[in-house]
Amino acid sequence: MRPDRTVVRWGVRHALPAAYLRRSARRGDPVGRLLRDPAVRDRPHAVYEELRARGPLTPGSLGLVTTSHAVAQEVLRSEHFGVGWDRSAAPRAIRWALEYGDELDATGVAEPPSMLVVDPPDHTRYRRLVSRAFTPRATAAFEPMISKTAHALLDDLGWRRGPVDLVAGYAAQLPVLVIAELLGVPVERREDFLRWGAAAAATLDAGLPLRRYVSAERALRAMHAFLREHLERLRREPGDDLVSRLVHLPTEEALTERELHATVMLLLGAGFETTMNLIGNAVVLLDAHRDQWAALLADPGRWPGAVEEVLRHDSPVQLTGRSATADVELAGRRVPAGTRVTVLLGAANRDPEVFPDPARFDITRANARDHLAFSGGIHYCLGAGLARLEAVIALRTLAERFPHLRVSGAPVRRDLRTLRGFEHLPVRLSPAN
Ligand code: HEM
Repeated sequence: MRPDRTVVRWGVRHALPAAYLRRSARRGDPVGRLLRDPAVRDRPHAVYEELRARGPLTPGSLGLVTTSHAVAQEVLRSEHFGVGWDRSAAPRAIRWALEYGDELDATGVAEPPSMLVVDPPDHTRYRRLVSRAFTPRATAAFEPMISKTAHALLDDLGWRRGPVDLVAGYAAQLPVLVIAELLGVPVERREDFLRWGAAAAATLDAGLPLRRYVSAERALRAMHAFLREHLERLRREPGDDLVSRLVHLPTEEALTERELHATVMLLLGAGFETTMNLIGNAVVLLDAHRDQWAALLADPGRWPGAVEEVLRHDSPVQLTGRSATADVELAGRRVPAGTRVTVLLGAANRDPEVFPDPARFDITRANARDHLAFSGGIHYCLGAGLARLEAVIALRTLAERFPHLRVSGAPVRRDLRTLRGFEHLPVRLSPAN
């Protein structure tokens, strides 16, 4: 590890954007406020509404920004927008810093060659290699395992006296156990995965302070070291799992070491970092809407609809972005090639043009599933089916086992902007404890 490279990486990825966004926030720029203002972190929706009042596509500090469901969908599906960006257009000092700071062991999930941030043809190649593990049939085969794991975790929590932290004991554990099983990585390392995942999630936000960045980078290094060892083991002794298959691809399809790390790290992190938020967000919303919790207890067949409404109302991923790859026309505006469009998924999911009375939480909402919480287009969430299944089973099992569950203290939000969920969620599982 070279400390000077760490500082360069932090400078170009976090310090510079932070300074810029802070200045924009001070001038009242909504995107700057969304990404920097601590007061906005827990309640971004007021800023979304301010932006919506200015129109479907408005200029912000980072280019254009949209709150509109139609515009968001158009951008996400358009072949004229991509996730990559042209480094050659950046100032020389930035290009130097990116190159100097580049190091496999410090690479996060939102850096190439993670499929999340690469365009075709590489994106198509990476996605094709892993999508077989996420087909509806492959996902459905996990149902018994998810259900058994949910019960086992609740058996463990159920006998504890006093409030329990539902995130630490359940919402985070279930998805990490499921994705570890799916990928064939050792479940005994799950506490490590959770720690590393939290660090990787933090790097999704621009503008981390140095101390937080250094701790995130340390976690990324530990994750890469684990991966290196794990991939080496699978090279010698392959198993019958997705990662073994990726390691033993035929020569013409083989992934480089960097591509392997990026792919496995993304699947592992994306597999639990978001689903845990969905489960936590659902419990808090249903605690605040007790009549809807009661309706779900009376008719568990409503859980899939409830999960869609949670995804819409309190989206675990609040924003993403794309860059125009050609001069295009969007929402009546000429958008030159290279322009960045910030897509506020959380705002699009509350677009009154699509969702009447959008701030109302209503598990019977007929079109809740039209949300963009899993994005759209070619980067549409690969694990959407798995996440839906996990959330339905996790919540239905929780409600069956503990129908009197109540939130019993102030839930603490995670200190994140791109992702939205709870760090701690104290609950009492039954009136007696
Ligand atoms: C509630 C849970 C989840 C939410 C809200 C969610 C959300 C998202 C979103 C919004 C994107 C696209 C971002 C963009 O367009 O820039 C995405 C991509 C992705 N998600 Fe999920 N996700 C969830 C669960 C999962 C799970 C369980 C997995 C399993 C491994 C997963 C794997 C992925 C992968 C691999 C991608 C990249 C796809 C690509 O770039 O082609 N996600 N997810």
